[in-house]
Amino acid sequence: MRDVIVSLVIQMQVFEAIRTRRSIRQYSSKPVEKDKLLKVLEAVRLSPSATNRQPWSFIVVTKPELKEKLREAYDRDWFVSAPVIIVACAHPDKAWVRSDGEEYWKVDVAIAMQDLILAAWEQGLGTCWIGAFREEEVKKALQIPDDVRVVAMTPLGYPAEEKGPVSNRKPLEEIIHYDGW
Ligand SMILES: Cc1cc2nc3c(=O)[nH]c(=O)nc-3n(C[C@H](O)[C@H](O)[C@H](O)COP(=O)(O)O)c2cc1C
Repeated sequence: MRDVIVSLVIQMQVFEAIRTRRSIRQYSSKPVEKDKLLKVLEAVRLSPSATNRQPWSFIVVTKPELKEKLREAYDRDWFVSAPVIIVACAHPDKAWVRSDGEEYWKVDVAIAMQDLILAAWEQGLGTCWIGAFREEEVKKALQIPDDVRVVAMTPLGYPAEEKGPVSNRKPLEEIIHYDGW
């Protein structure tokens, strides 16, 4: 019985994080506490991946001069002003490939990234998935090896803007099909 109650409470917390999480594009200068950062990184570590290959590396950037270098890759003040930037990388040669050749490294890293984002939000920390970066500039700034791909980046820090819960989404009827297309 206790397990049922605990799992109900956990389910509600996860859904609440999904419902209220928003992309944050203004950050407070308040530093991110080490225990909170570690919990966010632990969420990444526990994430699932195809055949459990865990084909990823995450770079935690806090040095101001490195954050400034990342401006070459994504030139937004709010991005470089966050106390932490996390860069999510994939090792394509270590990831699972389906028998028809479909590569799964992007999927694996995307799942870990979303777990990071929700774990951050649960602790009051904002993020914003950045996809529109110049990959070569990220690799140059952080000396990332040639065979590693950069999948995403996110600033991490306390939000300095208030946003309501998610609202501008398509209705279920438009996106869900039952028993076939
Ligand atoms: C794959 C992906 C790439 C994104 N790239 C960027 C980006 O480069 N810059 C940005 O400001 N937001 C980016 N976003 C954030 C989206 O614009 C945002 O998630 C979407 O508008 C919904 O808003 P919400 O996150 O506040 O619910 C990205 C989101 C995803 C999932």
